[in-house]
Amino acid sequence: MSVTCEKNDVEYVLLTEDQIKKRVEEMGRKLSEMYEDKCPIVAAVLKGGSVFFTDLVRSMDCLMFFDFISVSSYGNDVKSSGQIIMRKDFDNDIAGKDLIIVEDIVDSGLTLSYLKDFLYERKAKSVITVALLNKYNCHPKDLNPTMYGFDIEDNFVVGYGLDYAGYYRNLPYVGVLRPEVYS
Ligand code: PRP
Repeated sequence: MSVTCEKNDVEYVLLTEDQIKKRVEEMGRKLSEMYEDKCPIVAAVLKGGSVFFTDLVRSMDCLMFFDFISVSSYGNDVKSSGQIIMRKDFDNDIAGKDLIIVEDIVDSGLTLSYLKDFLYERKAKSVITVALLNKYNCHPKDLNPTMYGFDIEDNFVVGYGLDYAGYYRNLPYVGVLRPEVYS
């Protein structure tokens, strides 16, 4: 597939840098209270969850371990393939541990439900899922993340870790991509 990406491919800003910062700090404070004496493993789901992860953990002041996993179901496409590929597993032994899984977005909910099953099979003590964005119309309520920053409509969003065909992850805000870019 050939993709041409320009700076003005973003139709409008959905969440500003400031809105994101405030909400991420609130979430970090809440998680610090919840995990005060637990020393959780906080794991970013690469690549999309990386930007949110780095801000979230710096808003937390409890002891923790980092981990990074990589799963993908979209490739360069705008629709999920429905098949999860695990590209990088956990480094930590997760048996008996409290896990916080950090994602940029829950869309169909497939990735997080796959990961939760996977972690309980590996005997994690507890698992919660934290996402910046929840596309609430795209999955049943029981697949909502445990904690999330914002409910959003079913638009194709990029920035703050989210990509289209690998582009735009570095934008400091979340914006809606012009449909002509991907159609
Ligand atoms: C995106 C996103 C989530 C997942 C959400 O990842 O980062 O991991 O899709 O979609 P779902 O709720 O429908 O499963 P992607 O597969 O595009 O990989 P990436 O993070 O490397 O961009």
